[in-house]
Order: sequence, then C-alpha cells, then structure tokens
Amino acid sequence: MAPKEILVGIIGVGLVGSELVSQILSIPAARNPFKIVFLSSSRKALYDTVTSPDAWKAALDASSDPADLKAVAGYLQTLVAQGSGSTQRQAVIVDNTSSDDVARLYPEWLKAGVSVVTPNKKAFSGDKAVWDAILAASAAPGAGRWLNESTVGAGLPVINTLKEMLGSGDRVKKIEGVFSGTMSYIFNEWSAATPSVNPPKFSEVVRVAREKGYTEPHPADDLNGADVARKLTILARTVSAFSIADGKGSLPELQSYEDVDTQGLIPTPLEGIKTGDEFVERLPKYDGDFERVRVQAEKEGQVLRFVGVVDVEEGVVKAGLAQYPVTHPFATSLGGSDNIIMFHTERYSPRPLIVQGSGAGAAVTAMGVLGDLLKLA
Ligand SMILES: NC(=O)c1ccc[n+]([C@@H]2O[C@H](COP(=O)([O-])OP(=O)(O)OC[C@H]3O[C@@H](n4cnc5c(N)ncnc54)[C@H](OP(=O)(O)O)[C@@H]3O)[C@@H](O)[C@H]2O)c1
Ligand SMILES: *[C@@H]1O[C@H](CO)[C@@H](O)[C@H](O)[C@H]1NC(C)=O
Ligand SMILES: *[C@@H]1O[C@H](CO)[C@@H](O)[C@H](O)[C@H]1NC(C)=O
Repeated sequence: MAPKEILVGIIGVGLVGSELVSQILSIPAARNPFKIVFLSSSRKALYDTVTSPDAWKAALDASSDPADLKAVAGYLQTLVAQGSGSTQRQAVIVDNTSSDDVARLYPEWLKAGVSVVTPNKKAFSGDKAVWDAILAASAAPGAGRWLNESTVGAGLPVINTLKEMLGSGDRVKKIEGVFSGTMSYIFNEWSAATPSVNPPKFSEVVRVAREKGYTEPHPADDLNGADVARKLTILARTVSAFSIADGKGSLPELQSYEDVDTQGLIPTPLEGIKTGDEFVERLPKYDGDFERVRVQAEKEGQVLRFVGVVDVEEGVVKAGLAQYPVTHPFATSLGGSDNIIMFHTERYSPRPLIVQGSGAGAAVTAMGVLGDLLKLA
C-alpha cells in the first residue's frame, strides 16, 4: 500500500487543541501519518508545519496572518496537490471551536475534498438545512469525510458504537444516558445514592461547581439542558440517517436541537438573567422547590438524574429530570463528571450495552478527535 500523509489544519487552539497537537506529535514517527500544517485562533493563523508541542504558541502569537477560514481549504488543497511520488496525500480540518460560523463552512470544505473532524456540536445539532448541506456535500464524488465521535461523550466510544450497531443490522430501541458532565457532577453531589445526614442545597452545589470551573461562566447555560438536547439531536439524526426503514418506530424529524422536548432546570423567574453572578446569587431562593422533589425521590428509594432519552420505539427525543432506583447504574456507577450511556437494542436485550467514563476534559476529548483522525489513515 502506498504510504499516506494526512495534512492537518487545526482551528481553535485552546485546551483541547493544544492537547491534540501534543498527542499528534507524540505518535512515533514510524507510524505517524499526520503533519500539522495550519493552526488558527479566532484572530490569528499560522501557515507552517508544527514540529514542537511548545514552539507553535509563540509562533502563532507572533504571526501577522489574520484568521481567514475561507482561505484554509484552498491552502490545504494546494499542499495536497504538491504531494509527490507514491505518497497519498489528503487534508483534514479539525474544528475545535464552539463557533457556529466555523461550522457553517463544513459543506464548502467537504466539497473541496477536505475532511472535517470536530468535537463542535453546532453544525450537527443546529439548523437542519446546515446538516442537509453537510450530507449533500459529503455525498459528492471526491468529497471529504466528516467524523463526529467527540461531539457526544467526548472520548467515549458513543457515536462509533452506535454506527457499528446500526451498520451491522442491530435495531436500536432506546438510548438513555447522562450526557452532560456538568449535570452529572451536580446530581451526583446533590442526589447521592447513599443519602447524607446533612445534604447540600441545590444552589450550593451549583455555586461550588461554578467555582471549580465545571459549569459555564453562566450556569444557566448548563442548567437549561441545551447541551444535552444538542447531543440527543446528533444521536437521533445518526439513528435516522441509518434509516428506520424497517418501519418499526421512527423518530421525529428535528429541525434543530430546539425541537427536543427539554425540561430545563432554570426557575422561571430566573430566566433571561444577564450575568452568572446574579444567577448564582438569586438561585438559593428556589432551593425549597428543588429540595421537595429530591426528598420525595429519596422516600421512594430513588435518586434524581438529568438524563437524555432517544426512544425510537415511542418516537420521542427528550431531556429532563428522571428518577432511578438507588441500585441503578445511573445512581451507583457515576463519579465526578462521568457520562453514562445505555443502548437498549434488539441484540443487547434485555440487558443494555453500557458505556461509561469521563465525558469531559482536554485529554479525553483530544483523544476522541485523534481517534477520528486515525480512521482517515
Ligand atoms: N472541554 C471539553 O471537555 C469538551 C468535551 C467535548 C466537546 N467539547 C467541544 O470542543 C469545542 C471547543 O470548546 P471550547 O470551549 O474550547 O471552545 P472556544 O473557547 O469557543 O474555542 C476555543 C478555541 O477556538 C478559537 N475560536 C473560536 N471561534 C473561532 C473562530 N470563529 N475562528 C477561529 N477560531 C475560533 C478560539 O480562539 P481564541 O483563542 O482567539 O479565542 C480558541 O482558540 C466545543 O465545541 C466544545 O463543545 C469540549
Ligand atoms: C478544543 O476544545 C476544548 C474543549 O472545549 C477546548 O477547551 C479547547 O480550548 C479547544 N481548542 C483546542 C485547539 O483544543
Ligand atoms: C456523524 O458522522 C457519521 C459519519 O462518520 C454519520 O454517519 C452520522 O450521520 C453523523 N451524525 C451527525 C448527526 O452528523
């Protein structure tokens, strides 16, 4: 087989991006097909081959090239065309931003033959027109591929597991899970399987989570459930893309993640509060309401978890609070900000396949991205 060279452009060099650069550079040369040829932050771009995990930061800082993401596909194509000899060259862009603007460029890149790998959920969970454009672009001859493993559960094998099940003819009945690391942490602390004598108040857990950097700066951005709704949209669309042509159960066609039936946790009077500080200050007023629900569940031997469900048999995609017995894996096996995902399928029945582990953090997210990159090699 001809040797392969994969030219990588990385957009967004924060925690995950930096970690990704280190992970790529640490693959032994003999089996490393990757060459990082482009890096970009929101302001600056570096058109250069990256060979050291440290030196690129200063080089990017010093660069006078502006971030021009419309030009990057052309640049990569030119490098691919310069390939010589028997080496097969291809190009891939890693979008490690959370930007909608970057996501909207995927169709153009794919059409140009450049593959796209990303942990960014925006393109796949937003406007259906954008997603349709991605599907159409990637179907054209010579188009790039797109891979999205790290959009759900970071490095956990979620999308790939699902794709292999569907591709091999298994039928998914229901997927349910704790998909948000932040929500996982909050509920593991607040509604533990072993009740504590002096349980913390809901607002207190949220405040501490924010201080530790586990929430968004504005905790409402986590508590509104939108992140979970986006992940469910990606799972539901992936299930639908493999077609529910067998006629047994079908999912609603989601125009965007906003169509997911989401029961967020923001008390109505706190909706639309501008700053995270004010939100955290006013949340304690609603501790009584939260506490009543928790105590009721506790009396029934149950815990509360914020879960997402893609129920193919019932045709429902929803996110919200649910109760689970204290012996259930959602109650017993989660620690920290772990994610857990249960696949109930025809083959995995009556006992589901369970994927569990850390669902956030730079090292595991970058691994999910690198895992996708390796699929191109
Ligand atoms: N952290 C995790 O555990 C985790 C897990 C799973 C998935 N993810 C996903 O990973 C992605 C990255 O997350 P993040 O919080 O790091 O996002 P972010 O802060 O918005 O973006 C980080 C990087 O992207 C750059 N950037 C933003 N907008 C850009 C634009 N329009 N053009 C070029 N570069 C741009 C930023 O540049 P500047 O430095 O110039 O601002 C920064 O370098 C997100 O989609 C997130 O949802 C993260
Ligand atoms: C990538 O995504 C992670 C996860 O949010 C983020 O922390 C990081 O800043 C992003 N950028 C890069 C280049 O990894
Ligand atoms: C994720 O990517 C795979 C291709 O690797 C595709 O089959 C699936 O439909 C994608 N899902 C979404 C929501 O983009």
